[in-house]
Amino acid sequence: MNSGREYEVALILGDGIGPEISGAAVAVLEATGVSIRWREFAAGEAARQCHGHPLPAATLAAVRTIGVALKGPLLAPKQTGRLVVRHGDADVTYPSVNNALRRELEVFANVRPIRSFPGVPTPFPSLDVVIVREVTEDTYIGWEEMKGPDEAWAIKRITRQASERIFRFAFEYARARGRRKVTAGHKANVLNLTDGLFLASGRDVAVAFPEVPFDDCMIDALCLRLVKQPDTLDVLVLPNQYGDILTDLCAGIAGSLGLAPGANIGARVAFFEASHGAAPDIVGQGIANPIALILSGAMLLGHLGEAAAERRIWEAVARVLREGRHLTPDLGGHARTTDVTRAIIAALGRAEGVTGSA
Ligand code: NAI
Repeated sequence: MNSGREYEVALILGDGIGPEISGAAVAVLEATGVSIRWREFAAGEAARQCHGHPLPAATLAAVRTIGVALKGPLLAPKQTGRLVVRHGDADVTYPSVNNALRRELEVFANVRPIRSFPGVPTPFPSLDVVIVREVTEDTYIGWEEMKGPDEAWAIKRITRQASERIFRFAFEYARARGRRKVTAGHKANVLNLTDGLFLASGRDVAVAFPEVPFDDCMIDALCLRLVKQPDTLDVLVLPNQYGDILTDLCAGIAGSLGLAPGANIGARVAFFEASHGAAPDIVGQGIANPIALILSGAMLLGHLGEAAAERRIWEAVARVLREGRHLTPDLGGHARTTDVTRAIIAALGRAEGVTGSA
């Protein structure tokens, strides 16, 4: 049952396969019956060509005002790989357009639920984890410099404030969603100070959530556990760089990057995007898997309070994957993006109950 409200949602189509999969996600969200007024804004290559900048100030301002966005993937800037955003007289430099978007919109938690689906070939059919990645600091702050021609340094920044905030978010998420436990990933035996502070913050926050079991695991051992005993893991809280890497690992063992959705959550703004990139190698072929962005859209509906519509989309996706007749090539099938989208919309009409989601 939908609330009957009309929501305003910003839409960034994205680069590469972005427009193909964004169209699919919009069609599926609309098919749930939730009323959404889409407001499209430019970012990425399209924005660079039309407005001379991949992240126009007008786009940032509009997304801040609207507060919720669905976003396709964006290409990294070609020449420098870095991006400059002007604040009055000062320039702020970011390592990529996505990094700039997250930090300019002050989102701090990147939430990526990744699970195996019956019907998708994987040696790990019991995988069901949620990666909660801190996205404001760690090595991705972009503080790198050359120390002479043959030596380069990068700064890893970890603060108690950001670490406690991400752990609080993860525990609240686990409690609200009935998840089994929270595990912190780190390398505190080597990075005693930075990862040590991250872990200590997790332990401090865990005290306030005695009903949610908490443990921790070295990042290398965590990778091993993911491929040996994935069912011992549930919500994983990770600093920025490990979170980035583990997402692709988890998506790969679940069957495809095309199955990994994501949310970027801040105090005032939340935007929803697939974990994968713009996939330039398959752009324009009509074979991109739209499921990760469709599930990101489902998370968006959950964020708006439309939990029933969110569950129906997960259920419909699970049904289409289980039936196995409409799989894109990344999943071993021959279906096109539009075939999968149509099948999910058809399954929405038949979806009942809950098969699990984030
Ligand atoms: P990628 O995720 O775009 O592609 C990696 C591989 O996965 C490719 O073989 C691609 O064809 C495949 N793939 C990805 N999504 C797929 C989908 N939905 N269906 C079927 N196959 C899919 O990663 P890559 O090649 O490293 O990055 C390409 C560009 O995307 C870069 O400019 C990168 O900076 C950007 N990127 C953007 C992200 C974002 O906007 N959040 C995230 C990651 C990368």
